[in-house]
Amino acid sequence: MPKVTVHRKAHFNAAHRLYRKEWSDAKNFEVFNKCSNPNFHGHNYELIVSLTGEIDKETGYVYDLGKLKKIIKEEIEEAFDHKNLNVEVVEFKEQNPTAENISVVIYNKLRSHIPSHLEMEITLYETPRNFVTYSGN
Ligand code: NI
Repeated sequence: MPKVTVHRKAHFNAAHRLYRKEWSDAKNFEVFNKCSNPNFHGHNYELIVSLTGEIDKETGYVYDLGKLKKIIKEEIEEAFDHKNLNVEVVEFKEQNPTAENISVVIYNKLRSHIPSHLEMEITLYETPRNFVTYSGN
């Protein structure tokens, strides 16, 4: 059977701050620029979850996108939407909530809910022009 990739888009708003506490405010600003603002700031994150696999002979689906929608809502949107990522999401207590780290956290939160025969890729837009991808490597 042909291999096809299906995609589901989702969205969350969240606040963050990128910094290292052992660095001065000046050094943090030099490295992280506006994202180091001590009072936090928000982004409108756009998430795309992509699943690749063979089309199921019985259903004609690679994966039911209604199911994927529900998993993303429960695992990601409810955990991240309108949250301060540094303060309220345990995965970012010890690591900066960069788009890179957020994409890995999202991948790890979703992977166990997706059948293992499907490849998964996360695409995360932090701004309309800045985005990252992660597929578990
Ligand atoms: Ni930022």
